[in-house]
Amino acid sequence: MATGGPAAGPELFATMSTMRAMRRLKADPVPEELLDRLVQAAVWGPSGGNMQRFEYVVVTDRAVMAELAPLWRRCVDAYLATTGRYAPSGMDEAAYRRMVAAIEYQRDHFADTPALIVPCYRFPPPRIEEEGLRASAEALGPQAAERMATGQTRFQALAEGSCVYPGVQNLLLAARALGLAANITIWHLMLEDEWKQVLGIPADMNTFAAVPVGRPLGNFGPVRRRPVAEVVHRDRW
Ligand SMILES: Cc1cc2nc3c(=O)[nH]c(=O)nc-3n(C[C@H](O)[C@H](O)[C@H](O)COP(=O)(O)O)c2cc1C
Repeated sequence: MATGGPAAGPELFATMSTMRAMRRLKADPVPEELLDRLVQAAVWGPSGGNMQRFEYVVVTDRAVMAELAPLWRRCVDAYLATTGRYAPSGMDEAAYRRMVAAIEYQRDHFADTPALIVPCYRFPPPRIEEEGLRASAEALGPQAAERMATGQTRFQALAEGSCVYPGVQNLLLAARALGLAANITIWHLMLEDEWKQVLGIPADMNTFAAVPVGRPLGNFGPVRRRPVAEVVHRDRW
């Protein structure tokens, strides 16, 4: 697999092309002011209809982190026993071993994570009247309207995620700009109820990621990604 190529051009491109998941963090605390700037960067991200129904839980309390650490361990162990048991397709064995070592490091040092940011989102209950549904079915056609109705759960989950993840990417880029490091994780979803309980997150609020933040212990370097020519389909697949 090719690397992202030389990190030439504006600084943002250099950052994006070297922004590997940083799972090894120094235990030094991150100043509140920097964490506020990370959340600010996330809030600058777009959300559907500019609804901005996101909330961010920022954890720095050592006691709370100590409660989360065993939950994170269970999630990581569940992942390593299943999806993470073998190298993902396209990843060589050595790279996979390095990734697992970093995942295990993060699992074993989770209680020392300086800060953790949990982005949440909650769609308001839809306000759709009978008349609106009829007009929508007319616009889509009966078959697509039926598919839309049965695929509502997927649609809603993707719509919520789409309102959160652009902000998360902003946050990750901002972390780099401030000399920090972070990585997006979602395995907490395997024990989401337990995480929400520890963090006091309301039952009707969905969580979308857990982002450990700190000073990098490892080095950033070129990301390994497929070449653009291999992934682009011009005009048609
Ligand atoms: C949606 C999403 C979820 C992820 N969840 C996890 C996770 O739960 N734990 C983890 O260690 N890494 C997680 N990652 C990080 C990816 O494993 C990582 O970005 C990928 O292997 C590429 O490695 P690199 O970012 O170092 O180049 C996630 C990444 C994305 C985009």
